[in-house]
Amino acid sequence: MKILFLDQSGKSGGAELCLLDTAKPYQAGSLIGLFEDGPFRSLLEEHQIPVQVLSQTTIRVRKESSWLTGLSSLSQLLPLVARVVQLSRQYDLIFVNTPKALVVGAVASFLTDRPLVYHLHDILSREHFSASNRRLLVTLANRAAWVIANSQATRSTFIAAGGRSEISSVVYNGFQPEKYTQKSVSASFQTGISKFTIGHFSRLSPWKGQHILIEALTHCPEDVTSVFVGDALFGEQKYVQQLHQQIEQLGLRDRVQFLGFRADVISLMGACDLIAHTSTAAEPFGRVIVEAMLCGKPVIAAKAGGAAELIDHGVNGWLVAPGEPKQLAEMIQALRSDWQTTIAVAQSAQRQASDRFHLEKVNQQIHQRLTQVLDDREYAP
Ligand code: UDP
Ligand code: GLC
Repeated sequence: MKILFLDQSGKSGGAELCLLDTAKPYQAGSLIGLFEDGPFRSLLEEHQIPVQVLSQTTIRVRKESSWLTGLSSLSQLLPLVARVVQLSRQYDLIFVNTPKALVVGAVASFLTDRPLVYHLHDILSREHFSASNRRLLVTLANRAAWVIANSQATRSTFIAAGGRSEISSVVYNGFQPEKYTQKSVSASFQTGISKFTIGHFSRLSPWKGQHILIEALTHCPEDVTSVFVGDALFGEQKYVQQLHQQIEQLGLRDRVQFLGFRADVISLMGACDLIAHTSTAAEPFGRVIVEAMLCGKPVIAAKAGGAAELIDHGVNGWLVAPGEPKQLAEMIQALRSDWQTTIAVAQSAQRQASDRFHLEKVNQQIHQRLTQVLDDREYAP
């Protein structure tokens, strides 16, 4: 099967890391087209997945932009669309992984009569997208042969926004469990006098809620520290400054470390006692939650969106209300005070997650449906 995969980003965000795993089985004869250059291209090259950067300029329009900004970016889009149309003719199917890729891919699919598949990694809510962008994306997605939603939460928001239920289904991200159980843990950050380290693994962005964990530390004993792994991938410099100010104001300088973007997430997770996920808006899926489980680490997550599907409270992790630092701190303390039970839950979560999110099963599911999409096309009148 020859697939043209399209993604707007050159950065290795969660949607891109998922694409790497999805595209791998098709590397012979397929291509990933990126709309900007960046570390994700190098990562794909390391994995011998054919990749091409299709645009020299970054498309200005953002998730929250109005249709007017969208329109003014047309001059940037046209050469890219022309390039994608030309490329599409060499492939059986167009697989789009991000909103801007959907816009370009939908036009190419229409002009070249190639079926379109959209991997929807976003919750199409007003917290994340302007009304005009939501309308545009749903209208275009409704032309797809298949919309893969990364969680029930993502799918229901798509349907509530006018998306067709009959073309959409849920496929969770897949993972290779054996990668997470390697015992080569190198404590690659300063643990200092800390007895208890909470890891936070997310890009730095207001809705990822790093400030909630920082605030929670003030309600925890002094020996509780935190380490933030991840960078501001999409220009959230102001938020980064605010985090540093918050730490100064709360006198937490000795209890917080920032490591920036790291490629060794697994060994860093291994060096933490507990992982916190603190998104203040509904998380579409939340790869870090599953990764924490696969590493056998206790995980507390904000109860919204995909996170609430991944975690069964007290069974394979713990849920707290989003945006509630005090509740988070109380949960941290409760888990510490019954550490034996906490570890038992984390170990059982590891076993369950290894089966539930196995990449091989996920890729099989995707492959079956893609084959069906192509078969339906062949026999269509
Ligand atoms: N990640 C990483 N290095 C970092 C921070 C995060 O490789 O420094 C990875 C993390 O392991 C996860 C992904 O980035 O696989 C983030 O995906 P998630 O679904 O949690 O959130 P997103 O950023 O996609 O919204
Ligand atoms: C997006 C979402 C994240 C999800 C990832 C992979 O980046 O923000 O929640 O885990 O895609 O589907």
